[in-house]
Amino acid sequence: MSSPHPPSPFALPPAPQQLRIETERLVLRPLIDDDVDRMVAYRGDPEVCRYLPFPPQSADDIRARIGHILGSSTLLGENGGIPVGIFRASDDQLIGDLVLFHLDEQNGSVEIGWVLHPGATGQGYATEAVTALVDAAFRIYGIRRVVARIDAENRASAQLAERVGMRLEAHLVENTWFAGRWGDELDYGLLAREWPAAAAASSISKATDSTRAS
Ligand SMILES: CC(C)(COP(=O)(O)OP(=O)(O)OC[C@H]1O[C@@H](n2cnc3c(N)ncnc32)[C@H](O)[C@@H]1OP(=O)(O)O)[C@@H](O)C(=O)NCCC(=O)NCCS
Repeated sequence: MSSPHPPSPFALPPAPQQLRIETERLVLRPLIDDDVDRMVAYRGDPEVCRYLPFPPQSADDIRARIGHILGSSTLLGENGGIPVGIFRASDDQLIGDLVLFHLDEQNGSVEIGWVLHPGATGQGYATEAVTALVDAAFRIYGIRRVVARIDAENRASAQLAERVGMRLEAHLVENTWFAGRWGDELDYGLLAREWPAAAAASSISKATDSTRAS
């Protein structure tokens, strides 16, 4: 049945052919199959996966879960999504990854996810990388709203969302069965029109200034 209301005014601009983002200490680019073995170093760690929606992963597990979007720089399509590697610029080490996915094309909304190698935590790398990818979501992909869904026990992740300027919009009580318990979910959101202010308030606004895409 067609809607009696006019469609939303949101229009997704064309995605870039390639995505490469440079920040002060990091390079972000779409992950490809050649990166998968290096992803196992952290995605295979049970502690890293404690709040992730999958158990520790082998290379085959990673390919089965996200192989269809490796190399993607577009959010569109049935399997749209952009998995992005976080590479330390000083030594080209893969220290984690991010993803933009679950595009809601009618409302211009996209979800962001993140994971860091445990050896790279505590140095602000995730803050720097997430800030740069949120900036790209707004300025390169034309997205109007970025959201993050976080287990309420995952304090490191909630603090990361807050460091990059995301707003806690909901605390959903026992809304999901996760890892043998009814878990609470925190929903964070940020609008494109809020982004300059949020970026300025964030501790690493300099990183977004040096972001560029090609
Ligand atoms: C969530 C996760 C990415 C956060 O990592 P993190 O290292 O805490 O975040 P950052 O890299 O931004 O580092 C922040 C820390 O570095 C410190 N820091 C040092 N230099 C910094 C800088 N230049 N800028 C910002 N923070 C800096 C901060 O004070 C903070 O320290 P604290 O943890 O003692 O408060 C990480 O815990 C993780 O990968 N968890 C497992 C995967 C997961 O749960 N994903 C989320 C699913 S929803």
